[in-house]
This record gives sequence, structure tokens and C-alpha cells, in this order.
Amino acid sequence: MNNDIRDIILKYGGDIIRSEEFRATFEQKHHMDTTVGDHTLGVAAEAVYICLLCSQTDDKTLENVVVSSLCHDLGIIGRDEKFDNNAQCLMRHPVDSAEVYRNLTGEKNERVLDSILSHMFPLKPRMPKHREGWILTLADKTASAREKLGRPSVSRAEREEILALAGGRPGQG
Ligand SMILES: [Fe+2]
Ligand SMILES: [Fe+2]
Repeated sequence: MNNDIRDIILKYGGDIIRSEEFRATFEQKHHMDTTVGDHTLGVAAEAVYICLLCSQTDDKTLENVVVSSLCHDLGIIGRDEKFDNNAQCLMRHPVDSAEVYRNLTGEKNERVLDSILSHMFPLKPRMPKHREGWILTLADKTASAREKLGRPSVSRAEREEILALAGGRPGQG
């Protein structure tokens, strides 16, 4: 993650990164290899990278993409208590994440909601309606693959730096 990408994430996602809900994500395991928080920052970094690569850099698109990325898996928090199995988690967490987004930000941007609700496409057969959703879907899979390969999109040092710059509590581990 270069400094331009980091600064875009902080510009549009600083309030979310500082929130209690977001800080809690560093305590929930995700895909066995990482935490929801680290995965989420990785998705935001990949999504902004795609925006820069594809000249999707107007203010509104960057904001929608960063907010969607940071919120897309917040519905996974508490998965062991909420979901009976992985299949149920796969189908339901986008709906729960959309609700966390609404409660956390007080907003209901249709493009952000659609991106969050469709980010599991094609595993969950809800296709994105907007480019933000396609960017999130691709970024989510790229970040997940990089986690599996042991080359996460955001390193521990970069995570600590972004949390410190945002004013959030440092992550654990
Ligand atoms: Fe997800
Ligand atoms: Fe994800």
C-alpha cells in the first residue's frame, strides 16, 4: 500500500476507522488467516488501487468505494453466536453488514448499500448494479487471495500506521 492509497482511505474512511465498531474487528478471526479488521483494510487498499488504475477517481466514487470496503464485512462480527455454519454466514453477513453501515454512519447511500449487499457475487447470486460494487467484489477477492498467499495487501506495520494516523487504537497481534 503506498502513501497515496493510505491517504485516500484516511480521507474518506477516517470516521469509520476511529469507531468502536471498527476497532472491534481486529479481535474477530476471518478466513482463519487474519482478522476482519486486517482483511477490511486490505480490501480498502485493493479497491482504491483499482480506482486509481481505472481512472475512477472522482470524489464521490472514492468515498463510496472506501466506505463500502470498510463496512462490507462488519456483519461478520459475532459470527460464532449469530450464524450456525459457514453457508449461513456467507448468505447473511452482507445483509448484516449493510445494517451496521446504516447504524454506524447514519447514512443509506444506495450505491454503498448495493455494493455491500452484492460483494459476495457470484458465490451469492446478487450481481452488483454499480461500478462501486464491481470494484468491491474484485478487491475483496484479491485481498482474500493475497491473505492466503501470505502476502496481505496491508502489512502489520502499515495497519499500525493507518490506525495511528486515524487516531484509532492500535490493533492486536
Ligand atoms: Fe464478505
Ligand atoms: Fe471480505
